[in-house]
This record gives sequence, C-alpha cells and structure tokens, in this order.
Amino acid sequence: MLADKLPDFPWDLLQPAAKLASSYPAGLIDLSVGTPVDPVAPAIQTAAAAALDAHAYPLTAGTSALIAAQQSWLADIAKADAQNLATIPTIGSKEAVALLPMLLGLNSSSSVAIPALAYPTYAVGAQAVGAKVVLADTPAELTQAVDLVWLNSPSNPTGNVLTADELKAWITYARDTNTIVASDECYLTLGWDTQPISILDMQLTAGDYKNLIALHSLSKRSSLAGYRAAMISGDKKLVAAILLARKHLGLITPTPSQAAAAAAWLDEAGAQSQKQVYLNRRAVMQQAFVAAGFKISASAAGLYLWLTRDEDCWSSVNWLAERGVLVAPGVFYGAAGANYIRAAMTETDAKINQLASRLM
Ligand SMILES: Cc1ncc(COP(=O)(O)O)c(C=O)c1O
Repeated sequence: MLADKLPDFPWDLLQPAAKLASSYPAGLIDLSVGTPVDPVAPAIQTAAAAALDAHAYPLTAGTSALIAAQQSWLADIAKADAQNLATIPTIGSKEAVALLPMLLGLNSSSSVAIPALAYPTYAVGAQAVGAKVVLADTPAELTQAVDLVWLNSPSNPTGNVLTADELKAWITYARDTNTIVASDECYLTLGWDTQPISILDMQLTAGDYKNLIALHSLSKRSSLAGYRAAMISGDKKLVAAILLARKHLGLITPTPSQAAAAAAWLDEAGAQSQKQVYLNRRAVMQQAFVAAGFKISASAAGLYLWLTRDEDCWSSVNWLAERGVLVAPGVFYGAAGANYIRAAMTETDAKINQLASRLM
C-alpha cells in the first residue's frame, strides 16, 4: 500500500493539544493551520456561479481565458517573460507538489532535494515514488547529484525569503547540472519586511527557463483554498510533458474553479486588500507573542510567524494550548524546527485581537 510508504500524518500528534485548547472557556484561537478565514470576493464567486452548467469535460490545459489571466499575472506580478514560458492550471498546488516527482518520471533510483525545514508534502511526493530525500538549502550543500530540487520562498514554515543571489545560484545549478529546479512560490505576494522574488523573474533568468518551473496558488492570495486553484509555469518542454501526463491521469481543474481562477488572477485589488488584512493581523500577533517571551525568527514574508522561546516546541505548544491557543510544533517541518512553533495569520480579527490578553 502506498500509505505504508508515507510518514505518519503529523497532525494526528497535535490532537491532545487541540483537545486541550478547544476546552478553553473563551473558545479556541486556532493558529495551527493556514486555512483562510476571509470571504471570497463577490466577483470571483459570480464568475464561478456563471460556470456551474459544467456539462462538458474541462480542458486540462485550462480555458483560454484562464491561461491569459495566468500569463498576465506572471508578467505583471512575478515579473516573468510570459512569452517564453508555458503555464497550466493545477488542482491547488498541494497535488502538484505531491505528484510532481511522479509526473516527471522519477522513481526509486531518483533523489529529490528539499529545504531542511519544509512543507511536508515535498518529502511525501518523493517518498511516494520511492525516491531518496536529501536536505539542501544551497547548491553547496548538495553532496550528490539529484533529479529534482524544491525551493520554497517565502518559506512555510519559517517565512524566510531567498535573495536574488541565492535564486541565481540555483538557476546556475539547474543549467550547469541539467537538474530540474521547482520553486514553490505560493506565498510570493505576501512580502512584509522583504519583497520576495520569483525564480521566473526576467532579471534573474533573462527569459531562459530551461529546467525551471514555479508553482503559484490562489489559496492564500485570494482566499480560494476551497476552489483548488493554482498553476505550474516555466520551462515549455517540462510543462508540456507535465500537461500530457496530467491529461492521461485526469488531473483536471473543474470548470467553475477555472472560471473563478481566471477572475482571481486578474483581481490585483482584491489581493492587495487581503494582504492588508494579513499585515494588520501580523502586527497584533507579533506584539502578543513577543510580550509572552517569544522571539520572532525569519518571518520576513508569508502567512506565518516562526517563533521560539528556546524550549522544546511541545512545551510551547502545550503552554499556548492551556490558554486556548493552538499552533503547529516546528518539528513537523524538520528536526531543525524542534525548538520552534509556527503561528498562522489565519484566524478572524476578533480572535487575533484576543491573543494579547490570553498570553499575558
Ligand atoms: C509551501 C506550500 N506549498 C503548497 C501549499 C498548498 O497550497 P494549495 O494546495 O492550497 O495551493 C501550501 C499550503 O499551505 C504550502 O504551505
């Protein structure tokens, strides 16, 4: 069974703390998962509703309206050379992360590099095809050849942002070693102290996307997590091969989601106002956690605060759970997270505003 090859589902380990936090009389403040709580913009809902008579099979490659919207976002926001790349929709980016090793034909003789602290699905996707997982945050840390490198900037969980020079080093590595580099940029537009850069940025690539792909998602940018709307873009040959495999496998974004996504990629005003909501929550959270003795590490961008009190992460998780606050233990993301916790900015303003008094 494939499930036997995969790691234990880590969230089950959080259940005791979740139970404790949920029993808090004034109610749970759930900062453990990054699931959006803000409403979908009415125009995006309308676009989805107008596509509900979806009797025909959708295009795996996406409607022409969706592809045009994706290209427009890639050019305007990711600063990519949209003429020199290909882009296809995915059913959210989690499936694309999990399935990419399989779609690229990797197997038990392959190796996949992932960041030392990372979203667990990079390792899951590699393990699902029997590939070896190695940890590397820079090309210099790679002591062996690999078949696929995952980057994630801004990072989940740390909020670290890769600089232009760090990205350039990976682009050079991709070209020199003929290795595929996949950059998961689902938090690209949530820059706070630092402005994140896409690996597709023309300044870095000069429009040469050989071996480079990037993943972008509408889940956080436009609160469309429930629509499952994201995209893979970059190297035309790679994207064409991924598309062909996805056609065979029936990995198709449903028609109403494609219609919503076409509207959402063009809705920059909506994305900016959502960003402001997170910026305000972030400021309140920063103050409350610092007052409670936590140090903020990295967290320059993205949807999370990466926090430590220089104690085992489970001590911090339990201390917060006693106060009705649930966070994710850093160890879920790698051994280097053992003394950290991750707090998501995805609670309502009313709940976030209660944090400071809970943590006093
Ligand atoms: C780094 C990273 N990649 C991908 C995803 C998946 O996002 P979605 O499938 O909603 O696009 C997440 C979700 O939290 C994430 O943190």
